[in-house]
Amino acid sequence: MHIEFNCVGVVGAGAMGRGIAQIAAQAGSRVLLFDNSPTACEKAIAAVHEQWDKLAAKGRLTPEQVQANKSHLQIAAALDEFKACDLVIEAIVERLDVKQALFKDLESRVDDTVVLVTNTSSLSVTAIAAALRLPGRFAGYHFFNPVPLMKVVEVIAGLKTAPEVCARLSRYAQQMGHQAVTAQDTPGFIVNHAGRGYGTEALRLVSEGVCDFATADRILKDQVGFRLGPFELLDLTALDVSHPVMESIYRQYYDEPRYRPSVITAQRLAGGVLGKKTGDGFYAYDEGRARLAPEPPVPEVESMPPVWVSTRAARRSELLQLLKNLGARIETGASPSAQALTIVAPLGFDVTTVAVVERLDPARTLGIDMLVDDQATKRRVIATNPATRTDMRAAAHALFARDGKPVSVIRDSGGFVTQRVVATIVNIACDICQQGICSPRDLETAVTLGLGYPLGPLAMGDRFGPANVLEVLFNMQTVYGDPRYRPSPWLRRRGAIGLSLMPVAANWAMGNNSKLPSYGSVANIGLAGFTLLVVILLSRSNV
Ligand code: NAI
Repeated sequence: MHIEFNCVGVVGAGAMGRGIAQIAAQAGSRVLLFDNSPTACEKAIAAVHEQWDKLAAKGRLTPEQVQANKSHLQIAAALDEFKACDLVIEAIVERLDVKQALFKDLESRVDDTVVLVTNTSSLSVTAIAAALRLPGRFAGYHFFNPVPLMKVVEVIAGLKTAPEVCARLSRYAQQMGHQAVTAQDTPGFIVNHAGRGYGTEALRLVSEGVCDFATADRILKDQVGFRLGPFELLDLTALDVSHPVMESIYRQYYDEPRYRPSVITAQRLAGGVLGKKTGDGFYAYDEGRARLAPEPPVPEVESMPPVWVSTRAARRSELLQLLKNLGARIETGASPSAQALTIVAPLGFDVTTVAVVERLDPARTLGIDMLVDDQATKRRVIATNPATRTDMRAAAHALFARDGKPVSVIRDSGGFVTQRVVATIVNIACDICQQGICSPRDLETAVTLGLGYPLGPLAMGDRFGPANVLEVLFNMQTVYGDPRYRPSPWLRRRGAIGLSLMPVAANWAMGNNSKLPSYGSVANIGLAGFTLLVVILLSRSNV
């Protein structure tokens, strides 16, 4: 088979360099590994050999393949040996001055046709290339840790990168068994940019007192299908890694509110409460296992009040059917009786706002998050408001838990937990598309493979309905007055017209989710306003 690069030099034999060297050797390239620490290369090669031996023991590699791989991987005693290479991949310390100096040095030693790439995760590819004589042959090649298992690589074009260089790197990624995605040189590229929504919005709602860390984790795993909750994830990556990334991307985008970090992680970082690796994070760890507090018990309720459901509730008929299945006595009057437990189901609004707007007694009113179909969720989430009576809270908790499905009771929140986190993720992804940082298809691939989300963020937006996500954001903006929640034009336009967020899937049926029946909300005012604006502009152009 034709290999795109026959001989590959890897500079830096740390966690990333050794993984890259492993998959390049497996692809059949000759790989030369260089590090300025005297023992780093030996250690890296021993570790890679061990990996191959383990794969052979599991029957995933034949002894001949192991032999061939080992013969491909060699140590370079000096950078001059890279003269033989047609690609050099840098994976050294994350410092602009050190990387620039290395590439300048390399450029004076290797042939002008050699492709040079950096594995930087946070520096500008264009800035690293600025020191080069031939920046056209330079690109970003951003792998993820651990490289052999994380099967995606971002190919990043700097301002002066030749398109053919990116095409060759993409083909080579495939030969190494990886999926290449192409990104413009922007802070965080695709994966670290798209990943800003999950943790920052979860931190924000916890800092608002909506619920505790463990409850937010449970809700997002059980309602959306994330493998790890945001706080489990922060514990795993450790705050000395993730907090600086949050700050760096926020600053590089000139304090864009959508990426705003949290004082919670700043404090914990300052206090050395870093996560799993220090045994102390959002969770406490015993021998690497998180200690989990039991969930609050379902209260015993002697006499269950009748239930009245707002006429404007999202998924109202499903909600009524659910309550019927749970054996509730449902009131059908135009307004609740004086005893009724009153249930609302807003999108983006908090329970307080809905109770006031609908003139409901807040003491008896709770909200339920109906963004996710009840059949599809493993947990129900209900929210109180500051006036909710404890007997009404207990009744709602007991009622919604009657069939054994776990119930989380949270404090009032514009968008509960799931709505606001999903809407933030979808909105950021939409803006990545709006800015043309990558194609929608590459965005979905990068996020599912690089972040392990159950769905790509655009598919997530389509699943819950672009118009619903738009409504959640509009209404959250009203509740919080924070430009963080302003919808991206990509979402605003597609949500308004009723299109899929993925252009390739524009003709897909959008199912029942495309618009949930819900409150006559700011979203609708917003959509009406949007339509009016278009009409005015069109009529002007006709004059
Ligand atoms: P590491 O600290 O494990 O390894 C870096 C290696 O580079 C060390 O062995 C060091 O001796 C060597 N080195 C430093 N300066 C050198 C120089 N001037 N010449 C030759 N060798 C030199 O670091 P890691 O984690 O492998 O990261 C390497 C690069 O990959 C960084 O740019 C990092 O931002 C990026 N990256 C890291 C990821 C991760 O999860 N660790 C993920 C994606 C990218």
